[in-house]
Amino acid sequence: MKKDELEFYENVGDWDFSMIKYDEEILTDWNFYEKIAENADEKSLCLDLGCGGGENVLKRYPEVGMVIATDFSPEMVKTANENLKDYPERRAKFLVMDNLKMTFPSEMFDLVSARHTIIDSYQIRECLKEGGTVVIRGVDKGDCSELKQIFGRGQGQYDEIAISDLDYANLKEAGFKNVEKVEILINEYYKTEQDLMALLLKTPILERENESGKMEMPLIEKDLFDEYVRKFRSERGILLKRKYYGIIAKK
Ligand SMILES: C[S@@+](CC[C@H](N)C(=O)[O-])C[C@H]1O[C@@H](n2cnc3c(N)ncnc32)[C@H](O)[C@@H]1O
Repeated sequence: MKKDELEFYENVGDWDFSMIKYDEEILTDWNFYEKIAENADEKSLCLDLGCGGGENVLKRYPEVGMVIATDFSPEMVKTANENLKDYPERRAKFLVMDNLKMTFPSEMFDLVSARHTIIDSYQIRECLKEGGTVVIRGVDKGDCSELKQIFGRGQGQYDEIAISDLDYANLKEAGFKNVEKVEILINEYYKTEQDLMALLLKTPILERENESGKMEMPLIEKDLFDEYVRKFRSERGILLKRKYYGIIAKK
């Protein structure tokens, strides 16, 4: 974990992007929530790691017996519990827990999901039942690469080993079977410059560290931002090329 990553997420406080206007062109066909639905049913006990303000769990998680959703940021979990009030029919519980220090009993869950968050393959395997499934979606090396090249920095841009390759290798090493990894490519088109700027100010896409290695909220240099917008503006909006990965594996 990067230094003070918790502080970063505590300051952000939710993972709600509904005010940002963009549309998506999905170029691949692996869908995180469909994979969960294919591997769980209305009796399954599921665990969602790094749930943020619960926005996606509440809106998009399939109907399962119960989903326990965790995040290490108390502020995020507070937001999730507030959001839960708008979904009284949802069988969901939100808890503060660090993905790297999980305290669930062994073999508790039928399925563990993790979307855009850090994971520990061994700890996931420990709390999964025999035959249980793990479903992961992550931000891959090469995500928003054109933008990061212009800024000369950005999340994962200069990693020696792509995070997708690390997760894949770690899951195998932890003893998971049938580990499948796929590339997920999505073109996002932001309606206005303000919409794109709002995304960059809220997420760590252009993260930077200060001299003491502390993760800081991104400062977006206006001249570099304008250069990107000039190059990637199209009729549909300002293009941002996203690169994610999906992994599914069995215990
Ligand atoms: C990019 S957000 C993703 C939120 C949600 N999964 C989604 O897809 O909408 C990452 C979340 O992971 C959480 N997180 C980061 N490191 C964590 C850790 N070690 N343990 C638990 N949560 C963590 C952050 O607080 C943040 O809410």
